[in-house]
Amino acid sequence: MASAGTTPFYGREHELRRLQELAGKKTASLVIIKGRRRIGKSRLATELARRLPGYGALSFQGLPPTAHLTAGQEREDFAQQINRQLGIPAPRADDWNTLLWSLADRTRTGRHLLVLDEINWLGSKDPTFLGKLKNAWDAEFSQNPHLILILSGSLSGWIERNILHHTGFLGRVSLDFTLPELPLATCNLFWGKHRDRITPHEKLRLLSVTGGVPRYLEEMNPTLSADVNIQRMADATKSIARSWRRWSTALWTYRNYTRHSASARPGRSANTARIWCRRAFCRATTPGTSRRRMKASTANCA
Ligand SMILES: Nc1ncnc2c1ncn2[C@@H]1O[C@H](COP(=O)(O)OP(=O)(O)O)[C@@H](O)[C@H]1O
Ligand SMILES: [Mg+2]
Repeated sequence: MASAGTTPFYGREHELRRLQELAGKKTASLVIIKGRRRIGKSRLATELARRLPGYGALSFQGLPPTAHLTAGQEREDFAQQINRQLGIPAPRADDWNTLLWSLADRTRTGRHLLVLDEINWLGSKDPTFLGKLKNAWDAEFSQNPHLILILSGSLSGWIERNILHHTGFLGRVSLDFTLPELPLATCNLFWGKHRDRITPHEKLRLLSVTGGVPRYLEEMNPTLSADVNIQRMADATKSIARSWRRWSTALWTYRNYTRHSASARPGRSANTARIWCRRAFCRATTPGTSRRRMKASTANCA
């Protein structure tokens, strides 16, 4: 598994405790970790590996989907990860069964932490992937009582639909949780030795932009002011800039519609304003939502 690097790890004690407890069970554990991107799912798994002495840790990542990525390329990449991590020749990549069985062969006995990261990407191109994973769990992985298999991903809806609420995986999951943003007390630790010098007002300004998302918090430079940090992050992180743009568009839409509805169409207008506001805020908070999907999901809201 990739090393945790040199940056310190903060908080997540509750989640780590729950995960560590699984090592005391007498049966294999299937775990689901959901959460938005950059919230710390992969890092949590790495930290868990460090805190599970005697466990061999393996982590496999799905490839981010692109318009041209094929199911074959996704499998080929997985085969190469097996080759690199296990030091065995890359298995044939024409079928998920071959890949999953070759993993199962290597984890049949002994203590193993196995992570399939961004499972929603791994499974996005091949409709047979989840069925084969479920079969591999039933017939192979679950037979090792000292195995912990973590499936993590950032598309919570996809995971809920296809794994948590899917009959194929019913009754198999030992633990599932959604990683939340870090609480304020933990965010404060990212200021390191500067944390007592910086005013709560400065900290709040920065936290109002970064939220409790560790990726953005670790980007912050505690020796610079909140304003400079925000500017630098917005320059460097297009998504923050985009999200700011979306929020300001949402607020602008809200203002215009409430104004417009108050003066122009008193009867229907309050409802229309609410619908438009909700659409604007949906766009602000869920990047990537297409205009058509958002219209459909808010069509009946009043
Ligand atoms: N609890 C934490 N304390 C300190 N840094 C963290 C913590 N969680 C995540 N990070 C850092 O935040 C960044 C994003 O985390 P990552 O695990 O890659 O997110 P995800 O897998 O959810 O997209 C990484 O650089 C990671 O080291
Ligand atoms: Mg990750």
